[in-house]
Parts: sequence; C-alpha cells; structure tokens
Amino acid sequence: MENVRKKRVLTGVKPTGVPHIGNYLGAIRPALELSKEYESFLFIADLHALTSRQDRADLTEQTYCVAATWLACGVDPKRVVFYKQSDIPEIPMLAWLLSCFTPLGLLNRAHTIKELRDNKQVDDENINHGLFAYPVLMAADILVFDTDIVPVGKDQKQHLEIAQEAARKLNNACGAEILRIPEARIDEAVMTVPGLDGRKMSKSYDNTIELFSTDKHLESRVKAIKTDSTTYGEPLKPETVYELYKLFATPEQHDLLAKQYASGRTAPEDAASKPFGWGDAKKALATVILEELGPARKEYTRLMEDKMHLRTLLAEGAGRARVTAQEVLARSLDALGIVR
Ligand code: TRP
Repeated sequence: MENVRKKRVLTGVKPTGVPHIGNYLGAIRPALELSKEYESFLFIADLHALTSRQDRADLTEQTYCVAATWLACGVDPKRVVFYKQSDIPEIPMLAWLLSCFTPLGLLNRAHTIKELRDNKQVDDENINHGLFAYPVLMAADILVFDTDIVPVGKDQKQHLEIAQEAARKLNNACGAEILRIPEARIDEAVMTVPGLDGRKMSKSYDNTIELFSTDKHLESRVKAIKTDSTTYGEPLKPETVYELYKLFATPEQHDLLAKQYASGRTAPEDAASKPFGWGDAKKALATVILEELGPARKEYTRLMEDKMHLRTLLAEGAGRARVTAQEVLARSLDALGIVR
C-alpha cells in the first residue's frame, strides 16, 4: 500500500506579524495550489514564535490572525490537515530524539545564529537555546509526519538540509529507514515578491502591504510604492508596481499593462489616447488586488469574530495530525531502544 499513498506536502507559518501580500503570494497561494495535488499538512508554528520575544497578547492575536487568514484564503480544513504545532506533543518529543543526532557544528553554521554572532550585536549570553535549536524543532515538525515535500523559500533551504541530515543520522544509527527524508521544493517565482521600496517584501523592512487591511489602507500603501520621476505620458520602466501586478493579474490584463508601460498611453494602439502614468498603474494594481482578495477579506472578518470556532477547527486538525505523529514517534522510540 505504501507506494500508492499520495505524496505529502507540509507548510509551517510562524504567527509573527500581520500577514501581508508577500506571505500570500510566496506561501499561501502556492500552498493552496499544492494542496490540490498532494495530501497537505499546514500548521501554525507557535512554538517557534517563542524563540523571539513575543508579547503575550500579540502571540495569541497573531495565532488567530494566521489561522483566519489561511482559512479565508481558501484552506479547506476537511481536506487539509490544519493545526497548531503546540497541539502536537509528539513534535517536541521527536525534537529531543533528533537533537541527539544533530551535529553541533551544523547548528553553529545555521544562518540565524551565524548572522547574529557575525554581526557581533548579540553575544551568546543573549541568544536563547530555543533559537539555537530552532532547526531541530523544525526538523521534527517535518519528520514527524513522514513528509515528502516541503515548499521553502531560499531562506529556509538550510533548515531543510539540517532536517535531512538529522534524519539520515538517526536512520544510520538505527540501520533502517525510520524517518522519511523530505525533499525541498523551491519555487523561484515566489521568492521575488517586491515590497514598497523594491526590496523583498518583509516585515523587517517595513515595506509590506497588509493582506486584510481596509480598502483605503491598501490604496495608500500602493500609492506609497517607490517609483521614478518619469514624465506623465512617457513610457514607464517596469518596476515594483509592474512586478506585483503580474503576480495578481490574468495574462491578458498583464499584457495590456505591459503595452501601457511601453507606450505611455492608456490605449496603447492609440497615440491620441489619455497618457498612462504611475497613478494609473497604481490604480490598476489596487484594483486587481482587491478583486482577488475581496471575498477573502469578508470571510476573514467573519472568522476573526468567532475565536471559539477557530479553536475548534484547529483542535480537530490536531486530532487528525496526531494519528500520524504518534506512529512516527513510536517507530523512532522503538528503533532507539526506548522501552514503552
Ligand atoms: N521556519 C519557518 C519560517 O520561518 C517556519 C517553519 C517552522 C516551518 N517549522 C516549519 C516551515 C516546518 C516549513 C516546515 O518561515
């Protein structure tokens, strides 16, 4: 039966920060696509969020916020196994087993730690062990579900390599394929969602466009996108507005915008038509974003008003997830000789 099982894909999201369209294009939309083809596990990495100092109320709020965001964007909790990491006690348990197989050198070289140390802004007294062990917990998130595929951005590639290495080391020690080695799926297209200033859209650059703010706020963020000083009516150089538009528009819409950029005219075939400038491009962008996210926005608001319902959904998801987690943990404990 093993070879007929659908491949399993797993995605984890930290509940830190308000979801923005970079998250949507880079993680949410691709995960939804993958869930059509694969058996799909999706979870909120709330234990990982504790590695950086979090305000209690913020963490709670953002956990709900992430849950409501994914559901509003179309995650069907009947098809996707949707849960919180902290509801799966098998994860930290497996993380301990993996700790005993993860080389210290590998963790020392992990980006997060290495950058903190190299910048000399933080000394080891101020780096908590959770942050150091972050990749091991992440490895457990993945390995405890016999995951086949993990879609990752460039920044998470190294973490996935650590997961593979820890799994291999445990397997070698046991002389058997106890843990399934997961594969990274790197989507080149989604790594380049630009923010307001043209750099990668990221909470840490403060250049994001919130996913579910008001229409007014969305419009003002789009207006804030940095553009050059091309004279109104002159051809425009494709930049951030253009790139973001491409990610939301249909091919036909995108084709029209490309021609409007190239001609500097609203009707590209007609030299006498109204000039086309940055203001028009930004309006077009706000419109396609609102079109795609409008219905989801209503659903988001509705979900955020019923936290009880969100908790129930997550608890049900955890129940389903734990069936597999218990199997994989039991298999690992047995293989290592832990008496049960
Ligand atoms: N580290 C991931 C991030 O910062 C979040 C995460 C935690 C994750 N556990 C995971 C992602 C397991 C994929 C699989 O984005």
